[in-house]
Amino acid sequence: MHLVWRNIFSFFLFCHICLAVVKDNFKECEQSSFCRRLRNLKPGDSKYVLNLNNLHVSENSVETELWNSEENVKFKLVLTALAGDMFRVYADEVSPIYPRYRVQGVLNGEPQVERLDVLKRDKDEVIVQSGDNKAVLKSEPFKIEFYKASNLVAVVNGRGLFDIEHLRTKKSETEGEENSLQKEDAGAWEENFKSHHDSKPRGPEGVSLDIHFPGALRIYGLPEHADKLALRTTGLGGVEPYRLYNLDVFEYIVDSTMALYGAVPVVFAHSTTNTVGAFWLNAAETWVDIKNSKDQNVVSSLVNLVSGQASESSVDAHFMSESGVVDLFILMGPKPKDCAKQYTKLTGVAPLPQYYTLAYHQCRWNYITEDDVTTVVKNFDDYNMPVDTMWLDIEYTDGKKYFTWDPIKFAHPDQMLKNLSSTGRNLVVIIDPHVKREGGYFLHEEALANDYYVKTKDGNVYEGWCWPGSSSYPDFFNPTVFNYYKGLYSKLKYENVDSDVMIWNDMNEPSVFNGPEITMPKDCLHYGGWEHRHLHNIYGIVYTAITYEGLLARNPNKRPFVLTRAHFAGSQRFAAVWTGDNNADWKHLAASFPMCLSEALAGISFCGADVGGFFNNPEPELLQRWYQAGIWLPFFRAHAHIDTRRREPYLFAEDIRNRIRTSLRLRYAHLPLWYTVFYEHERFGEPVIRPLFYEYPNDSEVIDIDNQVLVADSVLVHLISEPGATTANVYLPGGRSTYWYDIRDFRKREGNGFTSVPVNLDSIPVFYKGGSIISRKNRPRRASTLMHKDPYSLYVALDNNKSAKGTLYIDDNESFEYKKQKYLYLQFEFKNNELSSSLIDNTDYESVEWIERVVILGAPTEVSKAVITSKTLGSVDLETHYEGDALIIRKPGVCVREAFVIKLV
Ligand SMILES: *[C@@H]1O[C@H](CO)[C@@H](O)[C@H](O)[C@H]1NC(C)=O
Ligand SMILES: *[C@@H]1O[C@H](CO)[C@@H](O)[C@H](O)[C@H]1NC(C)=O
Ligand SMILES: *[C@@H]1O[C@H](CO)[C@@H](O)[C@H](O)[C@H]1NC(C)=O
Ligand SMILES: *[C@@H]1O[C@H](CO)[C@@H](O)[C@H](O)[C@H]1NC(C)=O
Repeated sequence: MHLVWRNIFSFFLFCHICLAVVKDNFKECEQSSFCRRLRNLKPGDSKYVLNLNNLHVSENSVETELWNSEENVKFKLVLTALAGDMFRVYADEVSPIYPRYRVQGVLNGEPQVERLDVLKRDKDEVIVQSGDNKAVLKSEPFKIEFYKASNLVAVVNGRGLFDIEHLRTKKSETEGEENSLQKEDAGAWEENFKSHHDSKPRGPEGVSLDIHFPGALRIYGLPEHADKLALRTTGLGGVEPYRLYNLDVFEYIVDSTMALYGAVPVVFAHSTTNTVGAFWLNAAETWVDIKNSKDQNVVSSLVNLVSGQASESSVDAHFMSESGVVDLFILMGPKPKDCAKQYTKLTGVAPLPQYYTLAYHQCRWNYITEDDVTTVVKNFDDYNMPVDTMWLDIEYTDGKKYFTWDPIKFAHPDQMLKNLSSTGRNLVVIIDPHVKREGGYFLHEEALANDYYVKTKDGNVYEGWCWPGSSSYPDFFNPTVFNYYKGLYSKLKYENVDSDVMIWNDMNEPSVFNGPEITMPKDCLHYGGWEHRHLHNIYGIVYTAITYEGLLARNPNKRPFVLTRAHFAGSQRFAAVWTGDNNADWKHLAASFPMCLSEALAGISFCGADVGGFFNNPEPELLQRWYQAGIWLPFFRAHAHIDTRRREPYLFAEDIRNRIRTSLRLRYAHLPLWYTVFYEHERFGEPVIRPLFYEYPNDSEVIDIDNQVLVADSVLVHLISEPGATTANVYLPGGRSTYWYDIRDFRKREGNGFTSVPVNLDSIPVFYKGGSIISRKNRPRRASTLMHKDPYSLYVALDNNKSAKGTLYIDDNESFEYKKQKYLYLQFEFKNNELSSSLIDNTDYESVEWIERVVILGAPTEVSKAVITSKTLGSVDLETHYEGDALIIRKPGVCVREAFVIKLV
């Protein structure tokens, strides 16, 4: 069975007309009847009218009636002020024939409301205020304008594309013209509600809304797409709207607005003076049209704009969803940082991961036996290359039955785990949602017996094809199934082993090989009688929530690690994501930065791309460049398809090995930085990696730059994504008074914009920002877990005032004790020729590591020595010397948790 499937899939994967296959398997807007209908709405005066005579005012919200004047249908509209400078706009039918689906479990709790005052109120207009944010509701045509102080920053229904297709009692006129792809769309609505509700048919129920962002230069967001970071104008040149529909796309193409595995319906409209966000909370298939006034032919077609500002730049976003309610959050900014924090306030942050999960992960489809796993690790050791975690893809199971082990190839999982953890290594195994329909398989039998599976529209158990062949899919929306499945993770518990098996959730879009668009039919039925169409995009996040909770229940003292392919807004609370099945080519390497930057802006910082590319064999230069870049994304894993040649980094020639080893060690040296930034992400809600515009919002030159990432605000990395590069055109932001130090030679450069930097095969351009202090652990080891007792080195990169600041976070690296004040959060500061350390919080953690070195970049000249003062050391003279422009202070010898001052003399 397995072989047959592999051949079928190899055909798909390696055919010469893959592009066509990829495109033909998936819909365009025109082929999706709701998208076609909603996209054909004409801009102009809205047919919707707000009845402002009838306004209900409460402390936090105003509620009023919204009337579709053409069809005489009533809706209610609620505008609520939320804490943290946000508004929520909610609209639903007043008396629907059937309730519309409201998304559950995505928000991180019910948002906190804020006081709202009504400033003006008559039949044409209501003005409300909350803090320095204002909203103006206009009656006819219906519109809501949002102001930050006195600046108009967003207009809901600015182009008049708002629509809620109300549930009708008769069939839609759009039916009957469906082709085979379209059958899954609104066409099937009639049948299924016959069997599951009553005999009344349910008509088209799309929702559409446009937002105009006056003044915006660019708009970002809407992961997951293999596209540039700045979203482009759709419609022009046949560019499809950005599609949000979690799909398993074989060999996805880059520079495309096609749907991928994840869907996060949030955008950030940005100008050098203002940034504002919009989060469209809807779990159904969604398409988003973007119009940027900079793009040709767009300005002239933008009617109905704010009068007198026609020549000003602006961006429009038009959201179109197949069903659900209108639930929109406006994030009032005014800077990218504010928007990021507002968004994570709504959807949550990634909990601090275990330290080792930030180190290097080695994966392949598949490590075929226990011996294989052992041998790979031993080779890493023999070649002095660090690795922390080994991964097992689907072949470790007994015939693709999850929660089982192959009885021959993986007969001693407990022993294998013990062996791994005895050298400080860890194990991640794959668990997918499809369940093999095989008699005797406990999971299938229990699911059948207890009625746990998703149903077809006729009420039978749904059957699809996936890795195991015939499979069914548990209905994770059923709380009983949720709890049952959660409990299964205790099967992967092994006593007396230091390390717990962690989990990789794949195929959770869900992927169904013989399903429409390789996924579940939209008319399948879930708990509560809801059709799959309403909640497709959150099937994956619910599945990862189960995994996270299951791992926590299995061991409440260790922070779970979960990797997921399908994701939605809020997935960061449960799992890291990777960019799925990419390809070993330069374009996919280039796409890895914008893809993860887009995820990071949308709350999902723990992101990486398969190093080397999943499909096909990378040429050695590409592989080296991929390692050099991959170490600067938060999740760092190499992975490869079963039909590729082995490519563990020790297998290559010596020069290549040396370069990859150097990259791995650079990652490991910076683990204290990564860990600190992840802690700060959890605490403050800012992304771990950031595009330039995030830190330099008033610089109009950076708005399209997405081949560079900043780690927090202190490390700048420039991606090399073409062969044979000898120079790189690096953008160094901040102006002349901002310094950037090349980490190879500590040469100082000014933030003068585009700068030509020489490169060779050995490295890619990486800079520390002047003004930052970065903590490193430089001693090479086999695994991060073996570095914990190693001393720290501090890199003090001085700014133009000869000062710098930095933080370091330390705890036990694995448990939840840090929530009980068992951690150290240190601040290092350099000014007036003194480096000092102090505690940010009044907490303690018994860390015994000492500081072995301080490296000062851009140091004052003619320093002859340094003097350290601390409680236990007293005052001690320290040796210093210069290496190039850097001043080295040798062996301060102070314990990292002790306050100290080092004075340069
Ligand atoms: C564990 O390590 C021991 C000692 O090296 C070896 O004999 C054994 O085969 C290993 N077991 C597994 C399951 O990897
Ligand atoms: C951007 O802001 C910084 C200070 O935050 C200022 O020094 C700089 O001149 C500004 N740049 C532009 C182009 O306005
Ligand atoms: C956790 O890791 C940090 C960084 O390596 C280290 O300083 C600390 O001592 C570690 N804690 C434990 C319990 O190993
Ligand atoms: C340097 O100091 C001046 C004056 O205190 C201040 O305006 C400037 O922002 C500082 N520069 C940096 C990079 O912090």
